[in-house]
Amino acid sequence: MDRQTVFSGLQPTGNVHLGNYLGALRNWVKLQDSYDCVYCVVDLHAITVDYDPKQFEQDRIEAAKVLLAAGIDPDRSLFYFQSQVPQHSELSWILGTMTPTGVLNRMTQYKDKVAKGEAANLGLYSYPVLMAADILLYHASLVPIGDDQRQHLEMTRDLAERFNNRFGNVFPVPEALIPETTARVMSLADPTAKMSKSDPNEKSRVLILDSPDVVRKKIRSAVTDSDPDVRFDTEEKPGVSNLLEIMSTCTGRSIDSLVDEYGSAGYGKFKDAVADAVIAELAPIRSAYQNLDDDEVARIMRRGALDARTKAEGFQQIAREATGLAAI
Ligand code: TRP
Repeated sequence: MDRQTVFSGLQPTGNVHLGNYLGALRNWVKLQDSYDCVYCVVDLHAITVDYDPKQFEQDRIEAAKVLLAAGIDPDRSLFYFQSQVPQHSELSWILGTMTPTGVLNRMTQYKDKVAKGEAANLGLYSYPVLMAADILLYHASLVPIGDDQRQHLEMTRDLAERFNNRFGNVFPVPEALIPETTARVMSLADPTAKMSKSDPNEKSRVLILDSPDVVRKKIRSAVTDSDPDVRFDTEEKPGVSNLLEIMSTCTGRSIDSLVDEYGSAGYGKFKDAVADAVIAELAPIRSAYQNLDDDEVARIMRRGALDARTKAEGFQQIAREATGLAAI
């Protein structure tokens, strides 16, 4: 039986952090064992907000390198830069012709970004259409995403149905894949907010490539509370709960067993144990990263783009034929 296709995209905006890793990446790596995976560094999405082209060029290669170091296996998965596969943009145009502007007007991420000062341009507005094209292009049926992307995936599903109703059954209607083993990692400085790469406070996040010393310092300085018990209570003790969740995800141990062991150990000892767990989890990624050189990464990405284009061309032909755009 054919394996189902998984598609996901990561924006190359630099500084991949523990939240990205434990919340998404680590799961992407695992999914390679059970599915045909397509993982795309979505550089065309990233340029919908203000950016510096020189910095971007570095961030792009860096994102690819981090993903490879974390275990994305280019021999098993399609792995490439979105901009190198023109079929994404072409399908996005076709899907755009069937996307009501009323639907785009309701997209909360678009509204949030504009409210925060991003220019309200057409690319930012149609961001969810390009995302739909990414997913539908490969006829993916499963999409690992975070909660913040649910609305975009809902729209993707609607577009698949709309397309199928009008042009015949072409696209599977994709589903979100949100497995239990992924963590929602919160900021170390404000544990009521998600860990984020845009927080100006660098101590709010552990970067996936931070040295063991830096990891330990950041975890030691994580905001907790003045009650000395280590227990899981996201309302009263969001900082401690976040650290418990991080440690549980890194070690595979249950929160209960961690509370049994560290409940009255004191925050100092507990934080050191959390730091040990995070350092151990990140060590293989750091060393794989150090062993990869940029030329090797470029070579892998060129080959990935070639493979992805070949596959995308085949699929795109089906969409072209269905819409009356077949080659003559
Ligand atoms: N919008 C996603 C994010 O910011 C990135 C993305 C682009 C994506 N295309 C995708 C995710 C397709 C899943 C599937 O996280």
